[in-house]
Amino acid sequence: MKTAKSFPTNFLWGGATADFQYEGGFNEGGRGLLSRDFETNGSQANPRHHTLKLPNGKVITPRSSFILADDVPADVEPVFLADQYYPSHQAVDFYHHYKEDIKLMAGMGFNIFRFSICWSRIFPTGEENEPNQAGLKFYDDVINEMKKYDMEPLITICHDELPMNLVLKYNGWASRKVIDAYVKYAKTLFEHFGDRCRYWLTFNEINAVRGFGPTGVRKADGQARYQAAHNMFVASAKTVKLGHKLIPGGSFGAMFAMSELYPATCKPEDMFHHLQERRENWYFIDVMGRGYYPSYAEELWQRHGFEKITIDPDDKEILKTGQLDYIAFSYYRSNITKKGDGWFNVGGSANPYLDKTPWGWPVDPLGLRYCMNEIYDRIQKPIFIVENGIGAIDQADENGYVEDDYRIEYFQQHLSAMADAINIDHVPCLGYTMWAPIDLVSLSTGEMKKRYGFVYVDMDDEGHGSLTRTPKKSYQWIKHVIETNGAALE
Ligand code: BG6
Repeated sequence: MKTAKSFPTNFLWGGATADFQYEGGFNEGGRGLLSRDFETNGSQANPRHHTLKLPNGKVITPRSSFILADDVPADVEPVFLADQYYPSHQAVDFYHHYKEDIKLMAGMGFNIFRFSICWSRIFPTGEENEPNQAGLKFYDDVINEMKKYDMEPLITICHDELPMNLVLKYNGWASRKVIDAYVKYAKTLFEHFGDRCRYWLTFNEINAVRGFGPTGVRKADGQARYQAAHNMFVASAKTVKLGHKLIPGGSFGAMFAMSELYPATCKPEDMFHHLQERRENWYFIDVMGRGYYPSYAEELWQRHGFEKITIDPDDKEILKTGQLDYIAFSYYRSNITKKGDGWFNVGGSANPYLDKTPWGWPVDPLGLRYCMNEIYDRIQKPIFIVENGIGAIDQADENGYVEDDYRIEYFQQHLSAMADAINIDHVPCLGYTMWAPIDLVSLSTGEMKKRYGFVYVDMDDEGHGSLTRTPKKSYQWIKHVIETNGAALE
């Protein structure tokens, strides 16, 4: 039965994860070390940090969240400290649970699963001539398992991480050497998995990455961030071109963090500030989605305290010919901004009209419809919602079962808003992969108790627990929504 909340036939329904938050097995199958492996857990009050050693033996612990990233001195050496917990090492052990997890996803009716490939599992240092066969085999096993359930892969080539060797040797994405290493890595993936994978994302939340953990760049200032972003734009564009050549029918996007942003008042100064803040995001989508730098780029750089970045003569042509096929984005919240507020309005004013999650993220379903319209109006390419969900504190009973009515309510509202954008506003949307089908480690805080899944994982903030998976109440609810293709949202 078709209703106002129905979705198009062949709509892609699924879930999304990232390797260093989900996979574990950090020292198995020949995997090399990642920038994220040296990142401790944390909390809202105590940000995560990296553990690094100076040449004189002194240990330093710079913060590593993208908003709170600190500069890192030259010549540091990463170290593991015995009294620290590093969540990426075990994560929630998808490495050994992939069959069970994929079955659970299929049980909800997913026809797509977005996951990221761990770069250092394929090229342990990023510089080998030949890929690590055990790494390729692991993802072969994952993909072949998905195919048993007719589930399509949506592969994120790089989710906020890179091999530690590329960080230490080249200062990460500050160097164009990393463009070559990335393109070689992507080519290997296309040649090996391209017969089974149509949907690809070159980068995750490229507009939000900054600092040592996600980019490997020691400096965390504006110029370093925008130079790293430029090098990533070039890598992405080269990869999209290559993908079109190697995978006929393949579709290549990138993913942007798209919180909605409203002006806090209608005062003209606040409205203009809002326009400028919004361009912090549009900058990235414009370059990658339209294939050229927007006219406001220099003004934006100057606001960040620098005049220009290094752009090679050929780069403009590369960007033009390597435009994305679709625009993927994550949507969790909206923010408000007024003159004087900074990037992402951290610590800025709250929206009095919205409730918040326990982590202070405003809940705004209509903001999702707003965002879908804004992106399509501007770029005119299909969109794909590849992350959306609520991080909440779940109370499991003695059987691991969670009555998560708050999660059901969140998805009921957001999926309804998405249906309205598709059915009323006619925004072409390829699919929806919620974050994250199975509980996993939080990116921003490294906590486990900030849970997103339809499936509970028995593990605490320090990695203790049986790792047993138990479907929550929301599992049956989303299954019903998917099997009725949205009609159950009425
Ligand atoms: C996105 C990232 O920023 O948001 C994910 O792509 C992340 O990796 C997700 O997990 C939710 O954020 P958090 O900090 O609650 O895990």
